[in-house]
Order: sequence, then structure tokens, then C-alpha cells
Amino acid sequence: MPNLSGKVAIVTGAGRGIGRAHALALAEAGAKVVVNDLGGTLAGEGADLSPAQQVVEEIAAAGGEAVADGENVADFDAADRLVRHALGAFGRLDILVNNAGILRDRMLVNMTEDEWDAVVAVHLKGHFGPTRHAAAHWRERSKSGEQVRARVINTSSPSGLFGNVGQANYGAAKAGIAAFTIIAAQELARYGVTVNCLAPNARTRMTEETFEMGAAPEDFDPLDPANISPVVVALCADEAQAITGQCFHVWGGAVNALQGWQAGELFEANRRWDADELIDALRERFPEGAAPAGMLIGMQASGGRSLRAQ
Ligand SMILES: NC(=O)c1ccc[n+]([C@@H]2O[C@H](COP(=O)([O-])OP(=O)(O)OC[C@H]3O[C@@H](n4cnc5c(N)ncnc54)[C@H](O)[C@@H]3O)[C@@H](O)[C@H]2O)c1
Repeated sequence: MPNLSGKVAIVTGAGRGIGRAHALALAEAGAKVVVNDLGGTLAGEGADLSPAQQVVEEIAAAGGEAVADGENVADFDAADRLVRHALGAFGRLDILVNNAGILRDRMLVNMTEDEWDAVVAVHLKGHFGPTRHAAAHWRERSKSGEQVRARVINTSSPSGLFGNVGQANYGAAKAGIAAFTIIAAQELARYGVTVNCLAPNARTRMTEETFEMGAAPEDFDPLDPANISPVVVALCADEAQAITGQCFHVWGGAVNALQGWQAGELFEANRRWDADELIDALRERFPEGAAPAGMLIGMQASGGRSLRAQ
């Protein structure tokens, strides 16, 4: 395992599920961890510091060092306090894992404005705020002459990258997080910061509520949240300094470095297209039509399977 001793990490939404597994793994690798979690319901209501505190206790019991933080990552000023908490408690910050998330699934025609706003706020703005404040800290250190080796690891989703019915709010935020990752990677490279993202699959309260997944198998469970964390620890190693702007789909032991939007079918004319001619050209090139294949096809092509119990 890479040795992360001397490094300080923030993991958002680390009181449960995948974030908890990341916090435990980073602490095991030697990092000091700020365990952030608002502690609300899956829909993002309420607040409770005890999930974060429990993870801090687990880390301490295993001989690691951690502090609990109850800030709401969707609040820009709270995200600043979160970064300051890490600096105050441990004197530095090296790793930011943006992981906190909520769900308010609904078909688009029935979705309320609140359902849209809440989900986009926690995921998309909840990635921007902590990253923005951490980046300011790293820029300052870089400008003072230090050779910074810092990490941001974001959390996208197969839902956003491949498109899952019933999750227009969540999927749009998660696709936004993938785009945010690519742009942040390009902007922050000059300060020594790499920015990557994950498209995880795991058995947590989030998926158990949505997918009726059935019980975990007795041998290797590909949906154990702890399967995602080695990717985080690997990306945090100093040796991963040249790997940035990537999005990793993770299903059990299958880690797929995805390729996002890229050049596809080119329709080229040496003048402005006539719309009639263009629709003819589209129908000729796509005789069966052109439509998204859906999330399961994308997941399977990436080494995953259906999240629904078969
Ligand atoms: N479980 C999966 O298969 C899966 C698939 C794709 C993406 N994801 C993503 O992985 C991340 C972790 O999800 P999970 O499955 O572990 O769910 P989870 O509900 O178990 O954990 C999410 C945690 O985030 C915390 N949180 C929510 N809003 C917050 C806020 N505003 N500020 C701080 N903390 C907040 C919650 O209290 C919770 O403990 C999420 O971003 C989720 O969208 C999960």
C-alpha cells in the first residue's frame, strides 16, 4: 500500500457507505483524516454528527488520527470552514475526496424544483466549494515555492456518464462533476494538483433503496464499498502525479479508465449544411436511428453488471 504518512485528507460524506471506506483506507495508509459528514437522510434532510464521530472512533481504534466535521458541503462558506478545519487540526491539506451525496429520484415530468435544486447543490456545488477553497490553499503553497503534490478525487456515477432513467437531477450533476474534473485537472496542474473522478458501484443505503440488490455473497462481494477505496489510495500516491483528469469506473476488481465524449460520426460539407440534406445524411448514416443505449449497457461494457438482484 502507498505510504501516505505525513499527508492530510478531507473525505466528504465519510460517515457512511463509500466515503467511510475511503476514510478508513486513507487512515490505514497513514494519512490524517477529516471525516466530514452532515449526517442527514438519503434525501438530504436533517443533520447528525454521530456517523462522522463513529468513523473517527474506528480510525482511532485502528491507531490512526482523525477528526469529525459536520459542515454542509453544498454551502460555499461551510466548505471554506471545512478546509480551515483541516488546516487548523493538522496544519496542512494534501488530499480532498469529494464524495458526499443525496438522492431525490423522480421521473422528469414529475420532478419538483426543490428536488432538482437540492441534488444539484449537494453534488455539483458540493464538489465546487471544497475544491475551490482547497485549490486556493494549494496555489498559495505553490506560489511560495513549495513543490505541491496534492490530490482531488471526485465522485461521478454510471448514472451521469451512461444515463439512468429517473435520475435527471442526479445524473446531470454527476455528468457535470465529470466535466468539472477535466477542467479542474487542466487548471490546477500548474500548482501540482491532480484531479480525477470515480464512477463507483457499491452496496450502500443509496443503492439498496433504489435497486433492491439482494444479500451480499459469502465470498468476494463485488459491491463492497471498500472495493472502491484502493483506487483512491493509489491516486493519492506520489507516483500517481502524472495521472489526472481521468474517470475510473469501479465494479469489484474491474477498474476501467473511461473515455468520455470524443469525436464520433462526422458530417462534413464545405459549406453551411442545408437542413433537408442534413436530415437525409443523418438517416442514411443511422438507418436504425440514434438513441442512448442506457446505463446497464455502459456499465457492462466497463466491466460491471446490473445492480438489480438477478
Ligand atoms: N453506491 C453506489 O453504487 C454509488 C454509485 C454511483 C455513485 N455513488 C456516489 O458515491 C457517493 C457516496 O455514496 P454512498 O453510496 O456511499 O451513499 P451514502 O448515503 O451511504 O453516503 C453519502 C454520505 O454523504 C453524506 N452527505 C449528504 N449530503 C451531505 C452534505 N451536504 N454535506 C456533507 N455530507 C453529506 C450523507 O450523510 C452520507 O453519510 C455519492 O456521491 C454517490 O452519489 C454511489
